[in-house]
Amino acid sequence: MNIIHIQELDFEYIASIMNKACEFKNNSTKKQPYNIANGYTLANVFFEPSTRTSLSFEVAMKNLGGHVITFHNDASSTKKGESILDTLKTISVYSDIIVLRHHDCDLIDQIPDIINKPIINAGNGSSEHPTQALLDLFTISQHIDIYSMRQLSILFVGDIKHSRTIHSLVYLLNSFFNSDIQYYCYPFCCDDNLMNNNNTVSSFDNIHNFDVVYSTRLQNERFDNLSHDIKTQSNLLINQSVVDKMKPGSILMHPLPRNHEIDPEVDNDPKCVYFSQIENGIYVRMAIIHSMIEQCSAKCPF
Ligand code: NCD
Repeated sequence: MNIIHIQELDFEYIASIMNKACEFKNNSTKKQPYNIANGYTLANVFFEPSTRTSLSFEVAMKNLGGHVITFHNDASSTKKGESILDTLKTISVYSDIIVLRHHDCDLIDQIPDIINKPIINAGNGSSEHPTQALLDLFTISQHIDIYSMRQLSILFVGDIKHSRTIHSLVYLLNSFFNSDIQYYCYPFCCDDNLMNNNNTVSSFDNIHNFDVVYSTRLQNERFDNLSHDIKTQSNLLINQSVVDKMKPGSILMHPLPRNHEIDPEVDNDPKCVYFSQIENGIYVRMAIIHSMIEQCSAKCPF
């Protein structure tokens, strides 16, 4: 099974990942070694920069007892003109699971036709980031009882158009939960597919209404010409006075990296959970790798 588009995951699968991640999290203090991935190799193949996604996949695989190989584009034969498909075919010979991040939104859809190893989409351009959405959902569920609450209200702040993390999480929340989703967006960053007059706000005045506030940075790399105006107008600073207005029990999330949109002075406020998102990424990715290995070994018992 691949994880390419969030739309391809059903509720049963998502619930199984949430439960398994919870189990891994509860056992994490025991520092218990797992041998679930013994003999398996995960390939981290990142054509765009990454800190959390690549490292957490590596830690997750190693926690399960598996190996990790890391592809370095700048030192690879792509520099001699090798095509990306040949590169991926080659990597698939050395590995059992491929984690791919690439700026081309459409490339990921071609991969299952050319390699027969499970593939995980770790970000395809500005389009999707399904495993981040799963870890975001897990983080929300650790703080808010989303399974029994009547409606979850969430405010997405920032670059709505280009944030793949937002696109994937919005899909999950709209499909499986009763969610009231609102957007507060940077100039030139509106997403016409998601936003309309009824779900768009232009200040933090009503921030006390939301259970979750999810901030993102301006995705500079998606602009051909990034004017000084866009940059300076894209600082919807969340500082202590904004966090203080959030409702008790609500949470402030960010997929990170941040630029200037959240003042580090609020980092230790209990509402700020972006560092928990980082940690939860390990458990959710352990759960994803575990499910893939279970399916591999079911198919090929010897
Ligand atoms: C995000 C990404 O790469 O899409 N980061 C992440 O994976 N944790 C967000 C971003 O780059 O702004």
